[in-house]
Amino acid sequence: MSQLRVGVLVSHNGSNLRALHRASAQPGAAFTVAAVISNNSGSGGVSYAREQGIPTAHLSGKTHPDPIDLDEAIRAMLVEHTVDWVVTAGYMKKLGPATLKEFAPRILNIHPALLPKFGGHGMWGANVHRAVLEAGETVSGPSVHLVDEDYDTGEVIAQLEVPVLPEDTIDSLAGRVLAAEHTLLPMVLTQLGTRHRLFLNIPPA
Ligand code: GRF
Repeated sequence: MSQLRVGVLVSHNGSNLRALHRASAQPGAAFTVAAVISNNSGSGGVSYAREQGIPTAHLSGKTHPDPIDLDEAIRAMLVEHTVDWVVTAGYMKKLGPATLKEFAPRILNIHPALLPKFGGHGMWGANVHRAVLEAGETVSGPSVHLVDEDYDTGEVIAQLEVPVLPEDTIDSLAGRVLAAEHTLLPMVLTQLGTRHRLFLNIPPA
């Protein structure tokens, strides 16, 4: 049965990668994690992917000092593993023009706030949740959006709201949003994978 093939780019912990991979291991899953790329050879995401036997590469400014070569190496790895959709999940770098040209609009990013609020340059990690708390928001949650050349500006395709509680700290809010990410991202890939395998034979009217 055909499955959507997903390439995942990570930098650090890789908890979203683990959530995707766990969902892809369910019987009848609509997608599979076909390749993992990290710019950080010591990341938790890389260790996990290697343990699970997922084709994994460390591709960074260390392995490829010229950004054009790095972009091409990332593109080539994703093409080699016949990736249908790319997911940047905690990937702290911008994608280069060759990778964007090959895969856009089939590239998704997950962001830990309800875009278009609390996105853009500098809005990552604790900074996002601090800004949400300082703004007095009562709702937050992750956004999944299409990736373009900039940070957090592509079209939002899915969001999952969680409450912001009066007693929340940055850490408690971050934990609640991250748990929602682990639900949202597999849901989105399941939807995309289901469409990918859907065969419609509609007789002419
Ligand atoms: C997540 O909060 C994601 O929204 C952001 O980076 C974090 C990555 O976490 N872009 P992990 O590496 O998947 O655990």
